[in-house]
Amino acid sequence: MFITGAGEGGCLEHVRLDGEALTLVFALEEGVTADCVYLGARLPDDEDLAALAAATARGRHESQPDASPRPGLLPEHKGGWSGTPALALRREGAPCDTDLMVNDWEVEGTAIAVHFADSLAGVAVLLRWRIGAGDVVCAQTQLTNTGEGALEVERLAALALPIPPRFTEVTSYSGRWAGEMQEHRRPIAPDGLARATAIGKPGFAGAGRLLLHAEGEVLGAHVAWSGDQWLALQPDAQGAGDGRAMLLMGAGWSPQEVVLAPGASVSTPHAVFALAPCRSALAQAFHTHLRAEVLPDRATWPPRKVHLNSWEALGFGLSQDKLIALAEDAAALGIERFVLDDGWFGARRDDTTSLGDWTVSPDVFPEGLAPLIARVHDLGMDFGLWVEPEMVSPDSNLYRLHPDWCLHIEGRDRPTMRGQLVLDLTLAQVRDYLFGALDALLSTYPIAYLKWDHNRDLFPAAGKALGQTQGFYALIDRLRAAHPKVEIESCSSGGGRIDFGVLSRVHRVWPTDNNDAIERLRIIPAWSQFLPLEVLGSHVGPSPNPITGRRLSMDFRAKVAVFGHMGVEADPGRMSDKERECLAAHIALYKAWRGVLHAGTLHRLAHPDPNVTGMLVIHDNKALALVAQTTFSPVFDVAPLRLAGLEPQARYRVTLPEPWPPKARHYLANPDAWRDGVILSGTALMTHGLALPLTHPETAWLIALERLPE
Ligand code: GLA
Repeated sequence: MFITGAGEGGCLEHVRLDGEALTLVFALEEGVTADCVYLGARLPDDEDLAALAAATARGRHESQPDASPRPGLLPEHKGGWSGTPALALRREGAPCDTDLMVNDWEVEGTAIAVHFADSLAGVAVLLRWRIGAGDVVCAQTQLTNTGEGALEVERLAALALPIPPRFTEVTSYSGRWAGEMQEHRRPIAPDGLARATAIGKPGFAGAGRLLLHAEGEVLGAHVAWSGDQWLALQPDAQGAGDGRAMLLMGAGWSPQEVVLAPGASVSTPHAVFALAPCRSALAQAFHTHLRAEVLPDRATWPPRKVHLNSWEALGFGLSQDKLIALAEDAAALGIERFVLDDGWFGARRDDTTSLGDWTVSPDVFPEGLAPLIARVHDLGMDFGLWVEPEMVSPDSNLYRLHPDWCLHIEGRDRPTMRGQLVLDLTLAQVRDYLFGALDALLSTYPIAYLKWDHNRDLFPAAGKALGQTQGFYALIDRLRAAHPKVEIESCSSGGGRIDFGVLSRVHRVWPTDNNDAIERLRIIPAWSQFLPLEVLGSHVGPSPNPITGRRLSMDFRAKVAVFGHMGVEADPGRMSDKERECLAAHIALYKAWRGVLHAGTLHRLAHPDPNVTGMLVIHDNKALALVAQTTFSPVFDVAPLRLAGLEPQARYRVTLPEPWPPKARHYLANPDAWRDGVILSGTALMTHGLALPLTHPETAWLIALERLPE
């Protein structure tokens, strides 16, 4: 279907976009405004849209503008609306007030484009919304300077979404290093919520994601941008709107960074949102969207190889012999990719030096990386390498040669973080240098994978917060075009740069530096609200854990690590034979089940004990669940675990893949039955559940399901 132009003398039109299970209804009025008057479950085809809009239209109250403001999809201050406008502009230094009116619109398939113009202000805006895979809505705003003289864009929302009043609670996120994605759910307060990041990346939680909750519904929204981001959730507390809260989200930038010459345009990154009946369904919607529309060539990905990363095994204490010994131990466990982390280049024997000098350190590797890589290949693994391209150490040849290549303010101090500064990626010569250095490495050595790190916040942004992220995208895009087969991971001291913008360029993310399995039982489900398991690096770390000091059994660490893109970040040489055996068995289980875990639908399993975490992934006729207890249960017999997402009438064979948790196995009723398989219907599994020994702290089980033929 292609419909164009409201244009029939300013009359009000109602237009619907339908996804699989979603309908959006827009009210469009030429010369006036555009609004989304319905956002919810798919409506019957013959729904009367005008009646629907009328059913929730508001009248005017005391102490309100005589003509009620209609913020709609493009809230402005005009007419008395008192919230944050979607756009803030200045022309020749003075605030530029706008009164943007709809002058045209087009609908094609599941996409709508709405054109607004204000000839007095010399501004045109184009909103594009599209319902895509997973019923995820992608929104983007373009602004054009149609006037004379330069137009400064201080703010431009990617999405302005009037929120149906049935949404009464919000989940936002905070985070810290090694403690990403902490969820905070609370009622939407009358004074709303405002978040912004100003560190040049989303950070450990990000201002670019949130959830809104209604009875039986959850809405998730996210800004697909790897730099600064902001959001504002504004209830219509003063009644100067139309009773609905407004959600605004966008990318952030530096003052005076976006200045449009006459005729020039700027486009925001995409903001995405989805609506689902529950958090599992919302996660599935985002996973579908990422798999179909965002992750690079997702359909062609080979199975996700098991990694061994040198960082927590060797740190900076690298030598060719130690690395070869580590690689040999890794291969014996069934590892498929050996990743050489920090410390291989320049004079980098600790974190105070050499970022920027991307040549192999002759002290550590007198013959270069070739002998190590050859051994890694002989052992049947491929090779990956850590880099941190956007950074420079003041103690580096690069900095000595080009002290002006870092982000700085002339005449001011250059404060460091982790002993490093940020290169100015808005400069073409800096990007060329970095491309040359990375291209040389990838051309010289058979490198299958780069762990691309970013360990410093952007300060000062030196007026380049937006340009820096654009420069990062330009660099990584150029490198990927030159080396399309190389897989890349986005790491930023763990999960500091994880968003759908970077995910359109990389194959995995490092969700946290915290490999403590108990912490990961919170962090991985939190990220998986937005991201599928195949992109979430999930490593077995050492015990005691170097960050938390916690000691955890290998069985527990390994079971938790199966649910993600599995790897090992510990020295197998320091493990006992029993631990190595246990780890190898779980690596084999991961390989057997990754086809399910990385293509299936993820369900979050509810349990009455808040310290029991359960996840289940279903794909075709198979499913695998992880259930883990972190604390000492107040009761001997923890409530049975109820599964989800199964076909009620189908019959499933349920087994508990071995190895079993050593402590808990003694409490298992009928061990033989769990080996042979218990056959139960989907209804029984989802209603009645499975009683597993989950009394002891740090106990985890894997549960395998096979749907039996009818
Ligand atoms: C960051 C990463 C770690 C590791 C170190 C190396 O902290 O998050 O995984 O690569 O850098 O310096």
